[in-house]
Amino acid sequence: MNYTLIIHSILRWAVVLFGLWALINALSGVFGKRKFTAGDNRTNLFFMISCDIQLLIGLVLYFNGMWFTLLKTNAKEVMKDGMSRFFAVEHITMMVIAWLLVHIGRSMVKRAGTDAQKHKRSLIYFGIAILIILAMIPWPFRQPGIARQLFPQF
Ligand code: HEM
Repeated sequence: MNYTLIIHSILRWAVVLFGLWALINALSGVFGKRKFTAGDNRTNLFFMISCDIQLLIGLVLYFNGMWFTLLKTNAKEVMKDGMSRFFAVEHITMMVIAWLLVHIGRSMVKRAGTDAQKHKRSLIYFGIAILIILAMIPWPFRQPGIARQLFPQF
């Protein structure tokens, strides 16, 4: 049983939950012209922490598993095959981009002068990050080979 993969699979729900929560907060902040509260800041922080842990576990999976080895030894074939390309290249590249956006977003929100600006920056950075994450999760409805279960199977 691959425990790293099981943790990675479960932790996706924390990332998705905090990401959507941060997005809803930002939308209600921008359109409801709300103050930027400690609660908003906490949700954004939890989103960042869940992405950090997911990235660490993902790196372990990637470099300890077969995808990186496959890419190193047989890049041409990997790029031709949709499933291998997804796990060896696309999933990790796009998730790292989303992780970067979350980190840049946190510091941009911190540096924003007004509450309106904090909500707007949260919406842009966290909004784009969660959209990328949602698009790059291997949901069960993806094509065979890429599709994975919603919860790990024991
Ligand atoms: C932060 C957002 C991320 C989310 C939400 C996410 C989610 C997932 C999910 C749901 C799976 C399928 C797990 C299963 O089989 O049940 C998966 C697989 C995988 N993820 Fe991620 N992931 C993220 C980031 C990353 C990153 C940054 C890396 C690498 C650096 C990575 C590497 C992998 C690898 C290698 C697999 C395939 C494991 C295998 O079946 O061989 N993930 N990911």
